[in-house]
Amino acid sequence: MAPVQAIPKSDLLFDAALIPAELQARLPAGHVLRPLARTDNQLRANTSFLKTLEVLTTVGTIADADFQKRFTYLQQHNDQYFTIVIEDMNGPVGSPSEGSLVAPGRGKIVAAGTVLVERKFIHELGLVGHIEDIAVSADQQGKKLGLRIIETLKAIGEQVGCYKVILDCSEKNVPFYVKCGFERKGVEMGWYV
Ligand code: ACO
Repeated sequence: MAPVQAIPKSDLLFDAALIPAELQARLPAGHVLRPLARTDNQLRANTSFLKTLEVLTTVGTIADADFQKRFTYLQQHNDQYFTIVIEDMNGPVGSPSEGSLVAPGRGKIVAAGTVLVERKFIHELGLVGHIEDIAVSADQQGKKLGLRIIETLKAIGEQVGCYKVILDCSEKNVPFYVKCGFERKGVEMGWYV
């Protein structure tokens, strides 16, 4: 059974119907695109959503109770936060002693990304999508999972009414985003506390 059907709707961050079926169909065999689930942090440590984000930057140690609290907040604002994952159902992966077998009926999270919808006054109360935190597990890069994540986030942004979808990235990722249909615009600036 596809995991998105196996997971109760109440555990999914947003309505899975926002994910275009044609993008789902273009994934490698056994891979499923779906909204982030409340239980994605409860797969074994080396297969979870948070582990996947580690290719991006430091994630730190996050207690499950704190993960749940953050998930609940995002779900209460699920017209604004759209985090998706790709789950690889080809398993089992490794052995229990390595802590790498996944829960029954569940796969391994191998990619993730978010589009955050900003509500503006300009452009007649326009909506802008901000793509954030794109991550593909090191051993799954180069299979077009990153491309499918971006195509899905763009499609969600369009469906919820964004007039544009933007992102910041490092110079080395520019060719990837160009392949995903983005063009260079403006300059990113940052201020860190
Ligand atoms: N330079 C040049 N081309 C690239 C690069 C790159 N760094 N990365 C991917 N591509 C190309 C691929 O060759 C492919 O081209 P093709 O269609 O001609 O074959 C196309 O882009 C799509 O590549 P994917 O296979 O979808 O890329 P992948 O699944 O490996 O995901 C990603 C790319 C997300 C950058 C991944 O390598 C990753 O997770 N890197 C570490 C974390 C990271 O840097 N995330 C992005 C941060 S920016 C942000 O979050 C807004």
